[in-house]
Amino acid sequence: MGEVRKIVKTLKSRPTIEGAGVHLKRAFGYDDPFLDPFLLLDDFHSDDPEDYIAGFPWHPHRGIETITYMLHGEVAHGDSMGNKGVIGEGDVQWMTAGSGIVHEEMPKNSGPLLWGFQLWANLPSSHKMMDPRYRDVNRDEIPVASRDNCEIRVICGEVDGVRGPVRDIVTDPEYLDVSLKPGCEFVHPVERGHNVFAYVVEGEGYFEDSRKDLIGKENLVVFGDGDEVKITTDGGVRFLLVSGKPIREPVAWYGPIVMNTQEELEKAFEEYRKGTFLKHKAR
Ligand code: CO
Repeated sequence: MGEVRKIVKTLKSRPTIEGAGVHLKRAFGYDDPFLDPFLLLDDFHSDDPEDYIAGFPWHPHRGIETITYMLHGEVAHGDSMGNKGVIGEGDVQWMTAGSGIVHEEMPKNSGPLLWGFQLWANLPSSHKMMDPRYRDVNRDEIPVASRDNCEIRVICGEVDGVRGPVRDIVTDPEYLDVSLKPGCEFVHPVERGHNVFAYVVEGEGYFEDSRKDLIGKENLVVFGDGDEVKITTDGGVRFLLVSGKPIREPVAWYGPIVMNTQEELEKAFEEYRKGTFLKHKAR
């Protein structure tokens, strides 16, 4: 048996305003530089369109990948590569900004409940200027691994031989949406040395062996090192479980652009002002 990871930190997600005035909750971000290769996790959750309808009009990204996962509602998007569409309930959008894309992400008032997550994964210096790419993953393409009293939607990675559809993220993360019924125990192997976190979506559970702290929704659980995670629940819990191999490189970050040095960061913004930002033209 491997070593079960212990909790090193829990963080309550914080109200934040982003884009053109979107009210969201940030599980971690710029002020929390400890989940390398992950930079940020935003939780969009509101049944008031005033909170989200302003959206994220055209803006650039460089040096990162983003994974957007919708639980409810719809987000319309378009980008400089000519992609256009709607991310709907249960769908995933995965975007590699690489050398640069410009895109818009506009929530639609189709519910009114909007609920989704955006995770940012950093790119190593060797891949910061790679060609951008984009993929929409329909909810039907996301397989579910079922065990007794527990259901795992595998977005990225593998559970019990079930592999998720998002496969080419450079840092090779694992991204699971785990639902446990009351009384269920979930043990899952993770790579030693990888950073692992859970973000509680609904219900509450215990995220380490000791069952000391009951952790509820909108809390981020950061795990210490070990070979597996063990989550138990009395009343039922749903959480995102994400792990990835740290890049261990300097981070120069401003807004939507994340590079290794201040010079690269300034160059990116200068290129954006001058209109020479996009290295990869539309199809
Ligand atoms: Co964006």
